[in-house]
Amino acid sequence: MAKYSILVNGKKHEVDVLEDMPLLWVLRDIIGLKGTKFGCGKALCGACTVHLNDTAIRSCSFPVSAIGEGKITTIEGLSEEGDHPVQEAWEKYVVPQCGYCQTGQIMNAAALLKKNAKPSVAEIEQAMQGNLCRCGTYNRIKAAILEAAGTPVTNG
Ligand code: FES
Ligand code: FES
Repeated sequence: MAKYSILVNGKKHEVDVLEDMPLLWVLRDIIGLKGTKFGCGKALCGACTVHLNDTAIRSCSFPVSAIGEGKITTIEGLSEEGDHPVQEAWEKYVVPQCGYCQTGQIMNAAALLKKNAKPSVAEIEQAMQGNLCRCGTYNRIKAAILEAAGTPVTNG
């Protein structure tokens, strides 16, 4: 076991865990933030996406020892009142179906818009292709990201 001081959603947490423990385990089981989901556990589905200094990472495959001084943001810390532009667009387009993948989708979309405020449809598809949705909400996800970017799809 080793002690780590990690910054999550602006708050310091002292955790005493194995150095190879994935960040997802620390978030859910040690700190008690359950919004980030476990899907595949192998960096293949995106359900566990969080931000490390505004970059999307897959917390199921990211060891706690690699965080260092980095700033972690989870869905709980994305906005004060659930009013991040991506969250508002998600609501407007009623994106979720079962909802299981949606934390990861929202976090990945927010990281995309941080880097590229006005992505094209092709850029959205490229950035989001690794976030799987068993319910097939892909078209609504795309529409919501365009809305959040201020370039909503219109019917002409
Ligand atoms: S649970 Fe991490 S990518 Fe699937
Ligand atoms: S909304 Fe069900 S898996 Fe995506």
